[in-house]
Amino acid sequence: EQDIEDEFQKSLKEMISSLLKGNNWGLPDHLYHYQGFWLTPTFLQGVMLAQQQFEAQPTDIILCSAPRTGTAWLKSLTFATITRTSYDDSTTPLLFKTPHDVVPFMELDHAHFSANRHPLLATHAPYSFLPTSIIDSGCKIIYICRDPKDTFVSMYHICASWYGPYWDHVLRYWKASLEHPNKFMFLKYEKMNEDTVLYLKKLAEFMGCPFSSEEAQKRMPEKIVKMCSFKNISNLEIENKIYFRKGKVGDWKNDLTPEMSTQLDQITQQKLSGSGLSF
Ligand code: A3P
Repeated sequence: EQDIEDEFQKSLKEMISSLLKGNNWGLPDHLYHYQGFWLTPTFLQGVMLAQQQFEAQPTDIILCSAPRTGTAWLKSLTFATITRTSYDDSTTPLLFKTPHDVVPFMELDHAHFSANRHPLLATHAPYSFLPTSIIDSGCKIIYICRDPKDTFVSMYHICASWYGPYWDHVLRYWKASLEHPNKFMFLKYEKMNEDTVLYLKKLAEFMGCPFSSEEAQKRMPEKIVKMCSFKNISNLEIENKIYFRKGKVGDWKNDLTPEMSTQLDQITQQKLSGSGLSF
């Protein structure tokens, strides 16, 4: 089995080295252009291994997103919600682990392919890269996206446009969510920020574990929202500074010139025109 794995890794490396290469804004790994998206070799290899080996279960809930759009927040909210009968806000693993440790990335953490994992799994993979079992198994997909200008600024602070172009990432999931409305929940960071409790309740319903009236009376949704809030989670003593920067809507105004903002708006308009999606 190890031989097959080694052979697979070798042929992947060869394939990757034949791809168009772009610079990664000073980071050591280059970005490679594959099927319309710019990806690091580590992620590309991870996604391909997942395509080959990951068997989604109908009970799985896959959290999908482009980087810097609220992935960690969505992970903590969904994790706290599905584990609420096992933990409360004083015992949850979220107090001592990052959201990425409790809900791993499919393309990074292949150990979590085992059958006895919890149903949440995350990915930054573009829709067309998802393992076919995710589409065929009937499992649920939650996608989060964010204003392209805030995403751009947030991304700029850590790395290049991984998994981009961002608009193509969002659009493909948007279209898939229209094609399969029962399978998808499509979220926007800004809307979640406006009324997180409302969206948490919708998330719980979608995941098949709605809050009971007794839980609502005990203000369980409000407690989870508070526990997963930027203020609370970014202040925990976990090595997490890269994940939690400002957590604000409209922060792009502090970093983009009017020209840059106009240019990004134009691309957004052009890319999303006719799709029914706007920011
Ligand atoms: P900023 O860089 O604008 O602050 P991702 O988890 O997909 O990489 O997204 C990172 C962005 O989400 C960062 O945005 C980060 O600060 C913000 N974020 C992280 N945790 C959050 C939370 N609990 N609530 C709101 N935003 C959060």
